[in-house]
Amino acid sequence: MRIAMIGTGYVGLVAGACFSEFGHHVTCVDKDERKIAALHAGKMPIYEPGLDDLVGNNVRGGRLDFTTDLAGPVKDADAVFIAVGTPTARHGEGHADLTYVFAAAEEVAASLSGYTVVVTKSTVPVGTGRKVHKIISEKAPGADFDVASNPEFLREGAAINDFMRPDRVVVGAESDRCRAVLRDLYRPLFLNETPILMTSLETAELTKYAANAFLATKITFINEIADLCEATGADVQEVARGIGLDGRIGKKFLHAGPGYGGSCFPKDTLALVHQGREHDTPLRIVETVVAVNDDRKVRMAERIVHACGGSVQGKTIAVLGLTFKPNTDDMREAPSLVIVPALQKVGARIRAFDPEGMSEAKKHAELDGVAFCNNAYETMEGADALVILTEWNEFRSLDLERARSLLRDPVMVDLRNIYRPEEVVAAGFSYTSVGRRAVAPPKRPRSVSLGGR
Ligand code: UGA
Repeated sequence: MRIAMIGTGYVGLVAGACFSEFGHHVTCVDKDERKIAALHAGKMPIYEPGLDDLVGNNVRGGRLDFTTDLAGPVKDADAVFIAVGTPTARHGEGHADLTYVFAAAEEVAASLSGYTVVVTKSTVPVGTGRKVHKIISEKAPGADFDVASNPEFLREGAAINDFMRPDRVVVGAESDRCRAVLRDLYRPLFLNETPILMTSLETAELTKYAANAFLATKITFINEIADLCEATGADVQEVARGIGLDGRIGKKFLHAGPGYGGSCFPKDTLALVHQGREHDTPLRIVETVVAVNDDRKVRMAERIVHACGGSVQGKTIAVLGLTFKPNTDDMREAPSLVIVPALQKVGARIRAFDPEGMSEAKKHAELDGVAFCNNAYETMEGADALVILTEWNEFRSLDLERARSLLRDPVMVDLRNIYRPEEVVAAGFSYTSVGRRAVAPPKRPRSVSLGGR
């Protein structure tokens, strides 16, 4: 089959490369000439493990191509995927900005030829598929097309595996002809017995938001339980295991930390809340999740101040990890963008290192004034505390003796629980983590509030 993939962001580029790996002929289209030129030169616009090889192999195999010209590939396509961004609108109450989706629909309409399925892969509010249908029908009366919704559930950092071996594929489609095209596109997965759910457009659109909101809720729930664990002396990791082994709950996404971030959960929870309000059906649980998660990032800065004895005025903090999670260079809504400025505001100097996120991090005004270092140990030189913000593998087995000798004060705050308290304390550190009792804490400091509650 021939596919035109509109948008070469995370979802578009990964989905395009994976469809070409399935044997389809895919042309990825983007308006950004520099991005397309870079892709032609084999340079990926994002850091995603395995993506450059996958793209390279399929380009060489003649199944994957890139262009800024939308008309040609759309004219030849059996399926056109719209995979452009749906960011939170700048002015408003959290609703998704659909400008790029609708603009893509208009452009696609002008070039359709022969029966074509137009698929929204971007995360779009319920009802968008029907609007896309209307736009195309008005712009190209008589065009032979169907609109389908095929939300994407891949995670950054594990994107290729998630696409190739998904738990399920959701397809919102309303004619047999359309369903048959989608089934053919996902044939390799179909043969693998991956569940393929055929639904209405609205159901597919809402399934995507419900999935992200549920996962965000699960994380936020365990984060609050972590706070209670600290207050009571329980251990959140054991609690998470204790509940996660119950098949009805499941053990994934129960890792307590500094609050969720990234390009999806924050934006999609807000957009879902907005949809609830629009339909006069308030989603109070999701509203609370959003508020609790926002607040948590500030509380994490307080925790660091607390671990430093109640004040970081004039102190230097070594921060390891800036991206919202490991194996990505994505900084969007990363906890670091709240925690670092909050610490700077109360007088801390920040030294920081991230294995892949440094060039993205440097673009963020929130991190102005940070001394960016070349590796984990350089970051620690002369610092008064070590803070782990992102659980990159290379931070999991630091040489603790060396770390201790480089730090002025042996204080470690591990917001991802990647160390066992005993080993860190045995190496001479005072250790604060999440949902586990602080070990060898400093003398009781005066209470700390950085506002924002
Ligand atoms: C998320 C979903 O997991 C994907 O299924 C979805 O397709 C994607 O959003 C999207 O809508 O495009 P992603 O944002 O790449 O994927 O990252 P996750 O691995 O889900 O992590 C999101 C955030 O939750 C990160 O900040 C991570 O640190 C945090 N998290 C995750 C926790 O704090 N605890 C956990 O147990 C899991």
